[in-house]
Amino acid sequence: MTADIARPALPLRPELVGLEPYGAPQLDVPHLLNVNENPYAPSEQVVADIAAAVADAARGLNRYPDRDFEALRADLADYLAAESGVRLDVAQLWAANGSNEIMLHVLQAFGGPGRTALSFAPTYSMYPEYARDTSTAWVAGRREEDFSLDPDAARAAIAEHTPSVVLLASPNNPTGTALPASTVLAVLAAAADVPGGCVVVVDEAYGEFRRRGVPSALELLADHPHLAVSRTMSKAFGLAGARVGYLAAASDLVDALRVVRLPYHLSGVTQAVARAALAHSAELMAQVGSLRDERDALVVWLRGKGLTVAESDANFVLFGMFDDRHAIWQGLLDRGVLIREVGPDGWLRVSVGTREETAAFKDALVEVASL
Ligand SMILES: Cc1ncc(COP(=O)(O)O)c(C=O)c1O
Repeated sequence: MTADIARPALPLRPELVGLEPYGAPQLDVPHLLNVNENPYAPSEQVVADIAAAVADAARGLNRYPDRDFEALRADLADYLAAESGVRLDVAQLWAANGSNEIMLHVLQAFGGPGRTALSFAPTYSMYPEYARDTSTAWVAGRREEDFSLDPDAARAAIAEHTPSVVLLASPNNPTGTALPASTVLAVLAAAADVPGGCVVVVDEAYGEFRRRGVPSALELLADHPHLAVSRTMSKAFGLAGARVGYLAAASDLVDALRVVRLPYHLSGVTQAVARAALAHSAELMAQVGSLRDERDALVVWLRGKGLTVAESDANFVLFGMFDDRHAIWQGLLDRGVLIREVGPDGWLRVSVGTREETAAFKDALVEVASL
């Protein structure tokens, strides 16, 4: 009778007891505007090219994939040169299964027991989880009321906590705000003074959506060997389902990530999909331009309705303030529009969708919030 046999305890790490897996609700509703996906599915031509590339990769699946995926890294270097004007060597690029895994590699290499990772809240809620999973201490400083980062406060936090890793999301999630180069430079200067060293990661998951004139931290790489810039194909490329993130840094920083990665972590199929999509980057970037325009129009519309809206350089907008934001969120959901209840109290975040999805969101919001 198995019911009478005592179940042996599982030796779960104490810090994991009672925790739930991370993730926004995955609900089956008509308008999904909650996880900052690109609303446009790949075009038929992109689908056909991906399918052909996958078929080709499938013919070699009896072999392990290229462990160092140099062809993909070369394509990523070409893409970044076109997107930001910064030309990097293949040895300065790294890739993994989403920028989530990139960050894990960073913390596996540069964090760990007895070390600290620092960021500034409100920011991406996975950061403390990467720290927890690598037994790295986690410290969150504060951003200002307008979600900017005060360079003096950042410098003081770095001097106080002497982190080995600083994570800066720019544009930041969930606020949408980008950091000026002067703030990133102040953080880099303070990090350079940390005894034992400190890596600064600028997470540009939403980098392609930045407004004209907003710089990329890629421009700072040449002069800062302790800087890493992470990017993803999940947002601008509309390839969230493929799980491809990447990082640009000095080659010795990348070499440290190569030590901690699992062997063959990036499957042959993933590499093929990413390369096929990168071959269409010009077309996909045109779509990013129209999403940027939609975003700017949405900001204007929300402000026109008297709402407070954070500056956005991303493909989403943080808006408020609501006494009962949950009621607004629920009211939108009841009308088939799923957004995200995230960020400081009173705020809500909506991803920029297709024109039709944005119209559905606006109609629902007018009703629910009596605008
Ligand atoms: C700031 C930020 N960084 C990283 C990620 C993770 O992206 P990926 O799909 O590449 O793992 C996200 C996803 O929403 C994000 O908001």
